[in-house]
Amino acid sequence: MAFLLSLFRYLFFCLLFCLSLCKEDPESFSADFHRYPFIRDASDFPDGGHSYDYIVVGGGTAGCPLAATLSRNFNVLLLERGGVPFSNVNVSFLRNFHLTLADLSKESASQFFSSTDGVLNSRARILGGGSSINAGFYTRANPEFIRKVGWDEKLVNESYPWVENQIVRRPSFAPWQRAFRDSLLDVGVSPYNGFTYDHIYGTKFSGTIFDRFGRRHTAAELLASANPRKLTVLVYATVEKVLFDTSGKQPKASGVVFKDKRGYRHQALLSNDIRSEVVLSSGAIGSPQMLLLSGVGPKADLEKLNIPVVFDNVNVGKGMSDNPMNAIFVPTNRSIKQTLIQSVGITKLGVYLESSCGFGQSKDSIRCHHGIVSAEIGQLSTIPPKQRTQEAVQAYVKNKRNLPFEVFRGGFILEKIASPLSTGDLKLINTDAEDNPSVTFNYFSHPHDLDRCVAGIRLAMQVVQSKYFTEFTQVDRQTTEKLLNTSVQANVNLIPKHMNDTASLEQFCRDTVITIWHYHGGCHVGKVVDRENRVIGVGRLRVVDGSTFSESPGTNPQATVMMMGRYMGVKILRERLGRAAGV
Ligand SMILES: Cc1cc2nc3c(=O)[nH]c(=O)nc-3n(C[C@H](O)[C@H](O)[C@H](O)COP(=O)(O)OP(=O)(O)OC[C@H]3O[C@@H](n4cnc5c(N)ncnc54)[C@H](O)[C@@H]3O)c2cc1C
Ligand SMILES: *[C@@H]1O[C@H](CO)[C@@H](O)[C@H](O)[C@H]1NC(C)=O
Ligand SMILES: *[C@@H]1O[C@H](CO)[C@@H](O)[C@H](O)[C@H]1NC(C)=O
Ligand SMILES: *[C@@H]1O[C@H](CO)[C@@H](O)[C@H](O)[C@H]1NC(C)=O
Ligand SMILES: *[C@@H]1O[C@H](CO)[C@@H](O)[C@H](O)[C@H]1NC(C)=O
Ligand SMILES: *[C@@H]1O[C@H](CO)[C@@H](O)[C@H](O)[C@H]1NC(C)=O
Repeated sequence: MAFLLSLFRYLFFCLLFCLSLCKEDPESFSADFHRYPFIRDASDFPDGGHSYDYIVVGGGTAGCPLAATLSRNFNVLLLERGGVPFSNVNVSFLRNFHLTLADLSKESASQFFSSTDGVLNSRARILGGGSSINAGFYTRANPEFIRKVGWDEKLVNESYPWVENQIVRRPSFAPWQRAFRDSLLDVGVSPYNGFTYDHIYGTKFSGTIFDRFGRRHTAAELLASANPRKLTVLVYATVEKVLFDTSGKQPKASGVVFKDKRGYRHQALLSNDIRSEVVLSSGAIGSPQMLLLSGVGPKADLEKLNIPVVFDNVNVGKGMSDNPMNAIFVPTNRSIKQTLIQSVGITKLGVYLESSCGFGQSKDSIRCHHGIVSAEIGQLSTIPPKQRTQEAVQAYVKNKRNLPFEVFRGGFILEKIASPLSTGDLKLINTDAEDNPSVTFNYFSHPHDLDRCVAGIRLAMQVVQSKYFTEFTQVDRQTTEKLLNTSVQANVNLIPKHMNDTASLEQFCRDTVITIWHYHGGCHVGKVVDRENRVIGVGRLRVVDGSTFSESPGTNPQATVMMMGRYMGVKILRERLGRAAGV
């Protein structure tokens, strides 16, 4: 009897344990839907009647935490042009990172664009925004950044954990990433700061939004903190413009026009309270584009497209930048697990070194890929930017079966320039909100960016040659020779041959530049929005997202973009309600 009892007890605990595992069971999506009863398809939107205290345009990395926070006290409408991430296998798993970005269809969670520089790039088009398609690395901003933008440090320090407690994990540190860490320390990127979210000189590893099953947790999950009675989220709702009431002294936002999946137009309006607001959280391409489409921008440009001018501001769409990234391939003869980014070197040279690895798990080269540096997703780093076309991508894909397996077994050292001084601009091509505007980043047009790239490549070379790395990778001469022969076709850059020749390294930087998708700007503070992120020259309109940054925060920005959504939400509630806000 006692035996049976303990057997039952044992089975009962096994069951509990299994249930706790199932909570993160990679294949169980259905559980997600009942957590978000307020998400609807835009086609079901009942026109007329309702008005809102806040309309948030863009359910992305900043928009989701912002809408969730505002809904604690007010009626909020969140409009997102894409669908939901929960049931999408490409979006949901680390191993599928490259599939979303390679998908050029209209249903894809990522919208491809090419800057006029020729670097191929991607914008999120899904609830959760960038956090639904990114590499998942999570790390906070430099305290210096927080001071420069003038945020309240105490509230910042409360807003980061609000995000972290919901969706951020500590990764299990992979052997490749350990070897990378040891090599960074070996070449002097020290001290070792261990596991930390903080931005400190030296080498560290940091958080991730992927769990131990490789399943992604996005900003959309922050909507679980919303007040379900006061929030409506519409997906497949493409906002076309902000509406303004121009009867008073200053134009005031009064609502938005959006289109559903079938192409039907709807209007959503703000309530009459002067404190109600439209908030643009459409991202660094989407928010400046939305201001221009709505008549806020350079008068001459708007008139060319017959857009009625609401407020003339030459700064809208100016100061766009994208941190240039260059990558070096490191082969290995070990079988390694795919990792995106886990560790980072924060150097005093103004560059960050990161690494990703493990894409050749199958002997069938068609199923192999290069993850973050996949040619399929546009990272054509062996062809100079101006020659990177979709045909070049297709040619690579066609040729892929002829590539030796060795070119897929290894990883990349990624070198990113912190705060590039090179900037460009964004201009409308037409008035279709679904199309990409024209974007120019002018990579390396500022000599200091080029100097830093050269210094960074030299450091990356030392990392690759460090004994910690060579002992780990165990590559023989034959493999190296094979790689040298096929590196261009295989779209991998090895250590440049002329390391001592600065001019040729500069050329290497220009020719192999790709993106790490940290583009920002277009609605700079002091130029397009004020310090409270209110759009200058018009009423009841703010911008809350990466378009307001003049530099990208931290080594990777998503932590600070999510934190900013929460932070601005709390700020707005406290401004309007004082202590009664209760957040
Ligand atoms: C491939 C990739 C990898 C990355 N890797 C990392 C990483 O590992 N770590 C990290 O920290 N950062 C990473 N980033 C960067 C980071 O994800 C972005 O900087 C961040 O998500 C930007 O947030 P945002 O709120 O400014 O814009 P987004 O998150 O892009 O949000 C904008 C939202 O607005 C919606 N929208 C746009 N226009 C309209 C419209 N007209 N109507 C309705 N909705 C609209 C979009 O669909 C989108 O959901 C990566 C980015 C990408 C693309
Ligand atoms: C996933 O991506 C692939 C290729 O990139 C695409 O063909 C497929 O339709 C996508 N699947 C989903 C569910 O979006
Ligand atoms: C906020 O956190 C940072 C980093 O953890 C710390 O250096 C700073 O002193 C904190 N500031 C306040 C006001 O708590
Ligand atoms: C890797 O290369 C080393 C050195 O040539 C060799 O000893 C080892 O057996 C190789 N390992 C594999 C898995 O191929
Ligand atoms: C590399 O190319 C050279 C010259 O074409 C050739 O002699 C050599 O055999 C090739 N090496 C490998 C490993 O394919
Ligand atoms: C490059 O410079 C280093 C140190 O200045 C020197 O030791 C090395 O021989 C040089 N290499 C070449 C290929 O010129």
